[in-house]
Amino acid sequence: MHSDKKKYFICTFEDLKKSGSYSWETDLNKSPVQYFLIYHENKVHSYLNRCPHTGVNLDWTTNQFLDNSNKFIQCATHGALFSIENGLYLRGPCIGDRLVITENEVIKGNIYLVL
Ligand code: FES
Repeated sequence: MHSDKKKYFICTFEDLKKSGSYSWETDLNKSPVQYFLIYHENKVHSYLNRCPHTGVNLDWTTNQFLDNSNKFIQCATHGALFSIENGLYLRGPCIGDRLVITENEVIKGNIYLVL
């Protein structure tokens, strides 16, 4: 089966491991879209940077997506919490919603988003 998806280099696995999270913006579809990566328990998780509550970006400041405990993704606007592993809603105003997962691949220590 043919896929139109392409891989985009984002950063190295070691860089993400050091910083914990990393955001990336693309204008592939003519308007800017942001994605972000989270390093957690030796895995890379990637999502669309958009809160399901109102559609705003999630980060507090650039590359800062986690709550104080570093266990959950937290929206900076109204504080909704989401699972790092699967983006599912845990607490806050967007009951039953989830973050949009983005496919990623780690190849020879480099992280790529597959879009
Ligand atoms: S905009 Fe994210 S919780 Fe309201």
